[in-house]
Amino acid sequence: MTAPLTTPTGGEGPVPVPEHGAALLDVADLRVHYPVPRGKLRAVDGVSFHVGAGETLGLIGESGSGKSTVARAVLGLAPLTTGEVHLRGVRLDQLSRRELRRQRRHVQMIFQDPHEALDPRMDVWSAIAEPLRIHGVRSRTERDRRVADLLERVGLRLEHGERRPHELSGGQKQRVSIARALTLGPALLICDEAVSALDVSIQADILNLLVDLQRERSLAYLFISHDLAVVAHVADRVGVMYLGRLAEVGPADDVVARPRHPYTEALLSAEPQALPRRLRERQRIVLEGDLPSPVDPPSGCRFRTRCRYAAERCATEEPQLREVGPHRWSACHFAETLDLRGQEQGTTWLGGEHGRTATTTVTRPAATS
Ligand SMILES: Nc1ncnc2c1ncn2[C@@H]1O[C@H](COP(=O)(O)OP(=O)(O)OP(=O)(O)O)[C@@H](O)[C@H]1O
Ligand code: SF4
Ligand SMILES: [Mg+2]
Repeated sequence: MTAPLTTPTGGEGPVPVPEHGAALLDVADLRVHYPVPRGKLRAVDGVSFHVGAGETLGLIGESGSGKSTVARAVLGLAPLTTGEVHLRGVRLDQLSRRELRRQRRHVQMIFQDPHEALDPRMDVWSAIAEPLRIHGVRSRTERDRRVADLLERVGLRLEHGERRPHELSGGQKQRVSIARALTLGPALLICDEAVSALDVSIQADILNLLVDLQRERSLAYLFISHDLAVVAHVADRVGVMYLGRLAEVGPADDVVARPRHPYTEALLSAEPQALPRRLRERQRIVLEGDLPSPVDPPSGCRFRTRCRYAAERCATEEPQLREVGPHRWSACHFAETLDLRGQEQGTTWLGGEHGRTATTTVTRPAATS
């Protein structure tokens, strides 16, 4: 179902809300602008999306496109310039600090670097038990029981509980972060590059753990990564970010097979594919130049300075995110007419552009609507 485009705007034009509804997480017209000497840095510049209960929404885009700022703004860790964030029907961005802390038990974050979540002085057992203690589980026996269950569930042994973070491998540390994030039974986990720092085989183990936990606990994920292959494996839907905005949103399989925005096409062509090198090289679309400055984004379509299809209209008229097919949203003037290349279905390569070539099986959860 598609809702009307009625988001409040903060005076900079309406921002459509793709298939906004009674979602677990509803984000509308999110803008995060930072004052800088040359004006304002538009880290996030009008982003709307939702995540349904038990669903995984992947967020991809180049470094600096605003993915982490979206996550931080949802959690109240980045200041909103405009916009609304609703979690389970509660508007988070207007809550007092105290009330926000209470609501935060429903949404937890897993970072790329587990050090951001784990205190180096605290052993693993205490790190997992701490949120329980803070949120009123008084009985030590009960806390210990829950910690032991969680350690086992994330694939660690009881003896790992006695260790400090520096005595664990990267994968083990990420398992501890996941256990700690699960202690209070959240409905949503925000994973910001949660597997990016891990070796490819460990990446698959952690992704499979996340997928299994989702099935067991009806968890929803906002899964942020610059690696389209990883996102395509775990996400039901994907949002593609470019320079603080969403360029495209749609079901993951469909976006990968039939992109509806030239930026997505270019990202896909940069992914390693199961093709002979000769063919791969011929098919590759090179994204020329760097991401433009978010202080002074290009006029009209902000992707136009790197778009191989740019036309005169693109310099003067900003394309809005609009519905261009069933469940498909694109912010390109020519989304309906361009014949964009996707990736073949069934291409299952994990890893980025660093020459990693292992094929890895990650089991996707059943899509939710
Ligand atoms: N606190 C801040 N003050 C000023 N600018 C910021 C701040 N935080 C982020 N930015 C800027 O906002 C933009 C978006 O940053 P963000 O970290 O959200 O990008 P990202 O998509 O997560 O990138 P990466 O893939 O490298 O993690 C960047 O230009 C960044 O420099
Ligand atoms: S609107 Fe124009 S510049 Fe922007 S993505 Fe579409 S064709 Fe390219
Ligand atoms: Mg980031």
